Amino acid sequence: MSIWPPEQKIWWHEPIAKIEIVWIVVAFLWGVAMFFMMIYWHGAGEQNLSNEAYRTSPEAYAAKAQAMIDQYTVRDEGGYPVVHPPAGSEVYLIARLWQWWPILEFEKNQSYRLHISSMDWLHGFSLQPTNINLQIHPGYDMVLTVTPDQSGQFGVVCNEFCGIGHHTMLGRIYVVE
Ligand code: CUA
Repeated sequence: MSIWPPEQKIWWHEPIAKIEIVWIVVAFLWGVAMFFMMIYWHGAGEQNLSNEAYRTSPEAYAAKAQAMIDQYTVRDEGGYPVVHPPAGSEVYLIARLWQWWPILEFEKNQSYRLHISSMDWLHGFSLQPTNINLQIHPGYDMVLTVTPDQSGQFGVVCNEFCGIGHHTMLGRIYVVE
């Protein structure tokens, strides 16, 4: 009972109650079990990201994204370029205050190397309506190998609070047959 000061000032010399030792052992074993579950679930789970991360700079990353946009833009939607990159290529998505840029268009059952990086500070890539989430940091190029198996329109929302326009930071990805 901690309402009163301990009788012995050097309280850590007090014997530990048996029930407390039991709880320490239980918590430790559960922690070990959960640790190995992380490794197991990475392989056995149905939807896990095996993403890679590389150092970059906003300037270098923006230059690569712009080169892709210049080469593969197929139309414009409300001021956003819609980019249809070739299957198997390197694809660049920019996160910045408060946009996902550009709109990407993938082909169903084709693989792409999807890069995502931030131009300013921390954003969160959340692909809707699927359960894919990534933190997007400035200075890091996050790379996912993606093979979309459903066609349609997908939304990208930012799920890390990034300021006054956070809730307007919405993007779009199309998957066409
Ligand atoms: Cu970007 Cu919240």
